[in-house]
Amino acid sequence: MIKVSSQPLRAKGGETVVYPVRQRKSKAPTCPDRQVSSYLKEAFALGDFSGKVDEKLVFYLPAASPGKGGGKPVRILAVGLGKEDPDRELFRKVGGEIARAVAKLKVGKLRIRMLEDPGFSLAENAKALTEGLILGTYRFDRHKKIKKGEEPKRIREIIIHSSRAQTLRAAVFQGKTAAVAVCSARDMANEPGNFLTPGDFARMGRELAEKHGLACKVFEKAAMKKMGMGGIVAVNQGSAQPPKMVVLEYRSTGRAAPTLLLVGKGLTFDSGGISLKPGSGMEDMKYDMCGGAAVMAVMQAIGELKPDGINVVGIVPATENLPGPEALKPGDVITLYNGKTVEVINTDAEGRLILADALAYGVDKFKPAAVVDIATLTGAVIIGLGHHRTGLLGNDDKLAEKLLAIGDSCGEPSWRLPLGEEYEKQLKSEIADLKNIGGRPAGTITGACFLKEFVGDIPWAHLDIAGTAWNYTKKSYIPKGPSGVGVRTLIELVMNWK
Ligand code: BES
Ligand code: MG
Ligand code: ZN
Repeated sequence: MIKVSSQPLRAKGGETVVYPVRQRKSKAPTCPDRQVSSYLKEAFALGDFSGKVDEKLVFYLPAASPGKGGGKPVRILAVGLGKEDPDRELFRKVGGEIARAVAKLKVGKLRIRMLEDPGFSLAENAKALTEGLILGTYRFDRHKKIKKGEEPKRIREIIIHSSRAQTLRAAVFQGKTAAVAVCSARDMANEPGNFLTPGDFARMGRELAEKHGLACKVFEKAAMKKMGMGGIVAVNQGSAQPPKMVVLEYRSTGRAAPTLLLVGKGLTFDSGGISLKPGSGMEDMKYDMCGGAAVMAVMQAIGELKPDGINVVGIVPATENLPGPEALKPGDVITLYNGKTVEVINTDAEGRLILADALAYGVDKFKPAAVVDIATLTGAVIIGLGHHRTGLLGNDDKLAEKLLAIGDSCGEPSWRLPLGEEYEKQLKSEIADLKNIGGRPAGTITGACFLKEFVGDIPWAHLDIAGTAWNYTKKSYIPKGPSGVGVRTLIELVMNWK
């Protein structure tokens, strides 16, 4: 639980209070509490704490009112923000640092005195701090036996104190909602393939819809066959788990609003199929559903935030890619939802086949104003951009620039790669409309070129998160394992539509 309070901060004995403080030129950092400031001054005098970025100081004050809190001292955590005007990313990182520090101290309740310098946006920074706190607290221990008495203590309650509480409230709520959604996406991703199947995507979709008043439709294999979704059906052939296509719809109230379509790759395990992947590291392919998880998580947040003036449809095509006896084979020709035929050269390029069906269906059915898909699509994006930026491609400059800018401000940067006829030629097939791979050169681009064939002329952007969905750039608010990348970017896109 996270609250914003305009009450003056008076901690009871045993409580923990956090003061983010700025570094000053050859002077001790200060904070709104005189007693705390005097301690900071002593620490500065001995060279122990100056308020630099990443610096932390823990000390203890006698309880203000000995009656309350049994006369226990108050724990103070001062965290440095450095000299520069702190931006959102710094507050997110500081939030993560605080979460890590208090996890070690086994703190259950936290009060934070928000810094109120006039030079920057209080609401945006409080939102970023909130995101950092929640994202930095994330852990996944569902499959571990925890010994009695060794249960990790989690933060249950965070109270942000600010004299301008009213200006912070909505932003903190949005930050909390987005961060909790990211944590759901991380949970889905962390679940191994035998715990999170396409059927589980369907169940989660129904639960989300129930909870937040969204519409949910799940297409079963027979329906997909009938509708001509030859991509997802083909990829599923080698698996014993039936495929699902989850469609979630958020409708805003009032006048007719434009629809944004989001499509996420929900490959719950990608072995490569008959074009089998090498064994080493194959376990990571349980993460091949991170795009799908991101779309589910965005729909969860949208269901809570209920934005005006925009409708959002989220589609998650979900299946495993396994080399069972009925599996799709290299050389097979399949027909996708929009009637295009594809010669499958490599069964490991399966994401584009299921996304193509979902994109073509979504465009056809919902006539969206714009489409964004998010997928762990190509290993090649890791060669190009490493684990630090998401690959962004698309047919619309305005949408692409918007996503680039939002990504930068969210701490989820992406980098745009080109599309073009030269690359499209790489997908030419001798016997069908398209091949599903374009060879080694420009693998990320040819992957996107394939998808482009299924969106028509609607403004469309593709986020290739193969490099960022896990093993992401190390930061205090990003744990090892899945990052939940894309969730906050897409929530911002929806919330700042227009
Ligand atoms: N899920 C993989 C992409 C991937 C690879 C994600 C490594 C994260 C880390 C995708 O289905 C795939 O196998 N792509 C192939 C495409 C190739 C056959 C054209 C790849 O990248 O090797
Ligand atoms: Mg694959
Ligand atoms: Zn895949």
